[in-house]
Amino acid sequence: MLAVAILAAGKGTRMKSKLPKVLQQLGGVSLVERVIASCKEVKPDRTFLIIGHESEQVKEKLRDNSKIEFIKQVPQNGTGHAIQQLLPVLQDFEGELLVLNGDVPLLRIETIKKLVDQHRASKAGVTFLSARMDNPRGYGRVFADKNGKVKLIIEDCDCNEEQKTNKLTNAGIYCFNWSQLKNHLPSLSAKNEQKELYITDTVSMFNNAMHSEVDNTEEVSGINDRQQMAYCESILQERLRTYWLKNGVTFIDKDSCTLSESCQFGTDVVIEPQTHMRGKCHIGDGCIVGPGSLIQNAELGKNVTVLHSVISDSKVGDHVQIGPYAHVRPQSILADKCKIGNFVEVKKSVLGEGTKINHLSYIGDADVGGEVNVGAGTITANYDGKNKHRTIIGNNSRTGANSVLVAPIVIGKGVTIGAGSTLTKDVPNDALAIARAKQLTIEKWRKKQ
Ligand code: UD1
Ligand code: MG
Repeated sequence: MLAVAILAAGKGTRMKSKLPKVLQQLGGVSLVERVIASCKEVKPDRTFLIIGHESEQVKEKLRDNSKIEFIKQVPQNGTGHAIQQLLPVLQDFEGELLVLNGDVPLLRIETIKKLVDQHRASKAGVTFLSARMDNPRGYGRVFADKNGKVKLIIEDCDCNEEQKTNKLTNAGIYCFNWSQLKNHLPSLSAKNEQKELYITDTVSMFNNAMHSEVDNTEEVSGINDRQQMAYCESILQERLRTYWLKNGVTFIDKDSCTLSESCQFGTDVVIEPQTHMRGKCHIGDGCIVGPGSLIQNAELGKNVTVLHSVISDSKVGDHVQIGPYAHVRPQSILADKCKIGNFVEVKKSVLGEGTKINHLSYIGDADVGGEVNVGAGTITANYDGKNKHRTIIGNNSRTGANSVLVAPIVIGKGVTIGAGSTLTKDVPNDALAIARAKQLTIEKWRKKQ
């Protein structure tokens, strides 16, 4: 039997944030969700999350994960105190307890798997991950012999100057033999700098405590402050870009681009400099995105180009050209071969195949047919101050420059709208609609003056 306990009750004082630390995000995914995901391969029989500070927020975030058992720790009196909360719950449990710090989010699934396998093979009382850090500041130091047998862990703030020179650190990921650990937990004391009960103090109580050094120290970076968070974000971004470079995506200036975990790319995609993907994105084969673009929760078909533009929560077909300087706002659907260009904003609208909106327009709450040419400066006046109304434009229509379509309004198919028209009434198929004052020209007017 294997139980997992994730420590997530701390406030994260050093983050200086209103958000509990484990809900801070890396690559758009919270730290605690990352830690939960990292132990899925070991198939735990039970998963506990120790919560305390802002526990309701943490619970809310994870409410769709029915497998998690929440254990409250109040007050938060240290990592050892957190694990003591499991004593009543796991009274009759036999097997391993895998403990993970909720603020160590970059662990790879394989590393956890290896730790559990090693622990089972060695029959140690506890096996935990360690890392030899160039800059061990802030981490507990591990004192062990050459065979990996550990004497004790001393927290950074409790180390003397000589102990601080030890670069072997505790990663905060432990696999315990529960029957032994449960006997040690009641003996913890808070005689230390922070006056807390440390889980690390149990290590010296086992006859056989082992550490397992990770090859890649980046993986066990803990997050206590925003500097460490920025460091972890940069590691994560590098991981994501490297993955996609290996899978057919070209980055022109990779370090200037950021991705989210749930981005998917087709083949031969080119990501130009200063381009960012957030949330769930799908970018089809042959797309060229950027420079200077932001894509969030959007799906782009094949061979789409996006230049200096923002696309959010929308779906774009194949061979669509977007930008420069276009804004596609949520709930928009752009069919194949559309073109939206210079300073165009589209919101909650559907554009049919081959429709073009090339310059300076706002199209909101509209259903636009196929092969429509929206003239420069066309505006859908969708809001009457209280409610939003829809504009419908049929296939093959053309709006003249500077047209204002006051919604609700239906423009038929094959309609032509004269430039400078403000339309408030529906227009039937194939009509020409002009709504502007007639031009008055007085000849030789200047001379008379
Ligand atoms: C801890 C380890 C340190 C290790 C480092 C690795 C201890 C005493 N120290 O230090 O040896 O090098 O992690 O990153 O364990 N938490 C609770 N309840 C509490 C206190 C903390 O659930 O009462 C949770 C926090 O939310 C956090 C985790 O435990 O997710 C670790 O706590 P933190 O205060 O960050 O410990 P570190 O100082 O990083
Ligand atoms: Mg920490």
